[in-house]
Parts: sequence; structure tokens; C-alpha cells
Amino acid sequence: MIRSVNQVKKLVVLALAISLSAVAFLTSGPSQAAGAPVQDIAALYRAKCASCHAADGSGNTPAGKKTGVRDLRSAEVQGQSDAVLYNITAKGKNKMPGYEKSLGADKCKELVAYIRKLKP
Ligand code: HEC
Repeated sequence: MIRSVNQVKKLVVLALAISLSAVAFLTSGPSQAAGAPVQDIAALYRAKCASCHAADGSGNTPAGKKTGVRDLRSAEVQGQSDAVLYNITAKGKNKMPGYEKSLGADKCKELVAYIRKLKP
């Protein structure tokens, strides 16, 4: 039997904690398992590329200005072929590090596709 107000409080807190974690599991579990590729690649871009190229691709960051990156959305950059953009992403160029070894070729390809979709 329930003996005290404190015990009731504990039970309520416990029940809340259980239902909250169930909700968290149900809402986060499936979407992560489905691995929404677009979101993954956006997160990867923000984690690995945005320090220099900025989240929007403008290159408007301290490191971007220092290394003189071009706006990834500009006609000069977008006018280059996928192969050229892929090569720079995968192998690097001057101050741009190459990512083929750390991320793999597929992710580099997806990143190029992501850059293609950045809009001014
Ligand atoms: C340390 C800063 C830095 C980081 C981090 C970085 N880049 Fe770069 N990136 C550069 C620089 C500098 C250039 C210009 C290279 C050149 O032409 O000399 C460049 C050029 C590029 C280009 C070609 C653009 C052009 O001007 O033709 C692409 C595409 C690119 N980066 C993609 C990426 C991707 C994708 C990532 C993340 C996986 C990334 N970069 C991370 C510095 C960086």
C-alpha cells in the first residue's frame, strides 16, 4: 500500500520519466533508423565543412576569409563539373583538406550533391 505523500510523488515522477523516455524513443528511434540521408549530409557538412565554407556555403567565416574560399553557391564554383568538385572534396587542393580517407568516396559524392543544392 502507498504509505506517504512522498511515496506517491516518487511514483508519479517515475511514471513520468518512463513515459517521457518512451516518447523520446518512439520519436527519435525510427527517423534515425531510416537515416534520412539529406539530414545526415547536412549535418556532416556543418560538422566538417562549415568552419571554412560557412553553413550557407558563403565562406563567410573567420577561417573562410583567412583561406580565401570562394562562395560555393557562386557561378564560378557551380560552373565546375561534379568531377572537379568531387576531386577537390576528396583529394583536397592547396589549403582545402581532402576528405576521401576520412569520409569515404560515397560521402564525398553526397557532399558535392549537397553543395549543388545550396541556394544564395
Ligand atoms: C580548413 C578550411 C576548409 C575546410 C574545413 C573545408 N574546405 Fe573546402 N575549400 C577550402 C579552400 C581554401 C578552398 C579553395 C582551394 C583552392 O582552390 O585553392 C576550398 C575549396 C572547396 C571546393 C571547390 C570550390 C572552388 O572554389 O572551386 C569544394 C567543392 C569544397 N572546398 C568542398 C568542401 C567540403 C565538401 C568540405 C567538408 C567535407 C570542405 N570543403 C571543407 C577550405 C576548406
